[in-house]
Amino acid sequence: MKGMLSPSLMCADALNLQSELEILDKLGVEYIHLDFMDNHFVPNITLDANLIKAVKSVLVNMKRDIHIMAFEPAQYFDRMDIGKGDIVSVHYEACGETLHDVIAEIRERGASPFVAISPDTKPDVLSDYLDEIDGVLVMTVYPGFAGRPIVEGSFEKIKAVRELLDSRREGMLLEVDGHVSWDLCEKMRACGGDMFVAGSSSLYQKGIDIAEAVEKMSNMIA
Ligand code: DX5
Ligand code: ZN
Repeated sequence: MKGMLSPSLMCADALNLQSELEILDKLGVEYIHLDFMDNHFVPNITLDANLIKAVKSVLVNMKRDIHIMAFEPAQYFDRMDIGKGDIVSVHYEACGETLHDVIAEIRERGASPFVAISPDTKPDVLSDYLDEIDGVLVMTVYPGFAGRPIVEGSFEKIKAVRELLDSRREGMLLEVDGHVSWDLCEKMRACGGDMFVAGSSSLYQKGIDIAEAVEKMSNMIA
């Protein structure tokens, strides 16, 4: 599976989001990572549901990679206009026994369900869901803010999740989210990552040319 970039819009220039999206879309980037936070599951609020919906009208090539860090995530699906082509990651830690139903609802909307796990959650909790989902989002930082340091043991975790996915079926995607930096991204890829959330640790560092950065990181994770 070819490595794919998913730039994190919450790290882009907040006053120029439409032009940031258009630049990435023209550069042939596969996904745009859209973080939604409810200020309860994580103590922060970032992109709101209406903006996440509005992004659809700008995209030509890129697809939405929506990461919902919220309790009862299904309540936001209409407002985000979740549908065909979207990846939607919901947190195991936020859904509890409703997770099977939430996954089913994402599927019914024609979107691609992923389960996200935070750093303190063990990969084996995923076993019950692997036949219903298309991938897993592995948080390599504690969720809620950009710019956080990578959590100890993240590389071993990526490897463990890769083994778990491959033991179930071919083609399941492993998304790595958090501190995907220039010096760590190749190791994350080598451990089994397929999709990489590029935020303040790479594409959105100050003074960097986005087109050069996209080309450089795309080659590093190819
Ligand atoms: C954090 C978000 C990430 C974040 C990654 O909770 O899920 O998508 O934007 O950005 P950096 O590269 O700063 O970790
Ligand atoms: Zn994210």
